[in-house]
Amino acid sequence: MKTNPNLENVKVLLTEEQIQKRVGELAQALDSDYQDKEVVALCVLKGSVVFFVDIIRAMKTPVRCEFLGVASYGDEKQSSGEVKLTHDVKFPLSGKHVIVFEDIIDSGRTLNYLLNLLKAREPASLKVCSLLFKPNSLKKKVRPDYCGFEIGNEFVVGYGLDHAGWYRDLPYVGVLK
Ligand code: PRP
Repeated sequence: MKTNPNLENVKVLLTEEQIQKRVGELAQALDSDYQDKEVVALCVLKGSVVFFVDIIRAMKTPVRCEFLGVASYGDEKQSSGEVKLTHDVKFPLSGKHVIVFEDIIDSGRTLNYLLNLLKAREPASLKVCSLLFKPNSLKKKVRPDYCGFEIGNEFVVGYGLDHAGWYRDLPYVGVLK
């Protein structure tokens, strides 16, 4: 049985060029805010991986890369509402300048959970950089400090974002019809 996704179901929302241009702008903003600071760049697995590897290479500031896993969507388009920690960061964050990199803030539940978890580790500062932000979907009072694009309520895939594990490898972001 063929299980590959049908790309005809994906309508392009943000092209590869638009995304790369914005990633460069975000990297510049981070460089100007974090120069001479000891930075821990935290990648939230799995969706943020593609954004993370692009932006840390676009930044001139040296960063220590760490990874943390959370999941709440499973194979569904709606969040289960329950955020699970699948992989904790082992490196001590106390006294460090931590930047959390997210692919998307949708209901805000994941970020709300993460901020509570990370604040307890007493970083020197804690900021959030998200490629995508859905302000009209929020269920928790959170916002990114650095935001790539504000988008509507559509279910989006590509550039790290998946549906049932597929589409993460697309270089663009599209709406799944
Ligand atoms: C996605 C995404 C964010 C979160 C945002 O992760 O990567 O972390 O959902 O949604 P929220 O604001 O409604 O919490 P997901 O749980 O799908 O896991 P994945 O990154 O492994 O795909």
